Amino acid sequence: MVKVAVMGYGTIGSGVVKVLETNCDSITVKAGEPIEVKYILDLKDFPGDPHEKLFVKDINAILNDPEVKVVVETMGGVEPAHTFVKNCLEAGKHVTTSNKALVAKCGAELLSIAKEKNVNFLFEASVGGGIPIIRALQTSLTADVVEEITGIMNGTTNYILTKIEQEGSDFADVLKEAQELGYAEANPTDDVEGYDACRKIAILTSLVCGKYVDFEEIYTEGITKVTPEDMQYAKAMKRTIKLLATSRKAADTYSAMVAPFMLEKEHPLYNVHGVFNAVFVHGNMLDDAMFYGRGAGALPTASAVVADVVDMVRNSDHNTGTMWTDEKLAMPELDAVRHAFFVRVKGDENADKAKLEEAFGKGVIVKVPALSGEFGYVTGEISEKEFAEAYEKLEGAISRYRLA
Ligand code: HSE
Repeated sequence: MVKVAVMGYGTIGSGVVKVLETNCDSITVKAGEPIEVKYILDLKDFPGDPHEKLFVKDINAILNDPEVKVVVETMGGVEPAHTFVKNCLEAGKHVTTSNKALVAKCGAELLSIAKEKNVNFLFEASVGGGIPIIRALQTSLTADVVEEITGIMNGTTNYILTKIEQEGSDFADVLKEAQELGYAEANPTDDVEGYDACRKIAILTSLVCGKYVDFEEIYTEGITKVTPEDMQYAKAMKRTIKLLATSRKAADTYSAMVAPFMLEKEHPLYNVHGVFNAVFVHGNMLDDAMFYGRGAGALPTASAVVADVVDMVRNSDHNTGTMWTDEKLAMPELDAVRHAFFVRVKGDENADKAKLEEAFGKGVIVKVPALSGEFGYVTGEISEKEFAEAYEKLEGAISRYRLA
């Protein structure tokens, strides 16, 4: 019998307890022995909860109990999660977390403590919820040099963009609806400003390059400025707008960014709708692979956390080698990265075409009949730097997107 402690009894933590109970028999077979929750750490009280006897408020109850071999961290945020996880690893306990803020900021440090203590620190649920992307990168794709990872890694924003696309709703209205339905968090800034997706692409990039990727250095743009009119232009071009988190190999480093892109119909991520996530991976031997599923939600996320628990029970006597060092990856400036861009501008397409050509080079005019007094312009491939300089000077500019 393996005794587990769960730190944080919110949506995911309570989901973890439920998954362990619901699938108790099959999990026992897969782990090789039964797994039982001994403690649940939470500062809140849960009167009437069937697990009331398991609640503790002091981390020392877990740290000082040698019977607890595995700890689940589902508190969220960097502190006190970081201190608690560090203390658990130092006490020789295996830890799994769903906390992307913690992994993105402290992953290298916690992995190194785990290695030193010959235990494991796993975090499958920190990216893509229930989608097994981290284990895939860590075990199945080790023969490849990963040349690109591009994903829709945030369910809240994908839900909002899908609603703007399908119903022509405004960003603010859909966000409110998403909050009422419990998809978006009460404070949705991390989601809608792209910070959540940024941490996730930082984690995946660290895994493939083996170095610390500072998420604060990743160019990040959210979806707060996406309008139904922008989406109409996307539709006129047989495209849609999606928030992509992307990382591409560039010589001996990776270049990462998060931004809303206009995706063509043939793009593998075009058909990922609603709260679903998907991660596209291109390896130099594998070619293309896609991982698709629920990127959020109590049970899908808890499923990934519990799979880590099973993994740690199976490998309880050694460190399985998940590693990235604290050497920081030197990411290149975005300036040189090239894309085609879409520009939406006030004016008349016949009178102003020459002005756009002069600014961005030869391109294609796009019209949405319902939108008068403005037009769209699709550039050829130009660098981020060239584009930004020309866009800044452009009179009447309304919005712009990168094309993928
Ligand atoms: N807020 C996140 C999302 C939850 O919307 O995808 C999963 O990390």
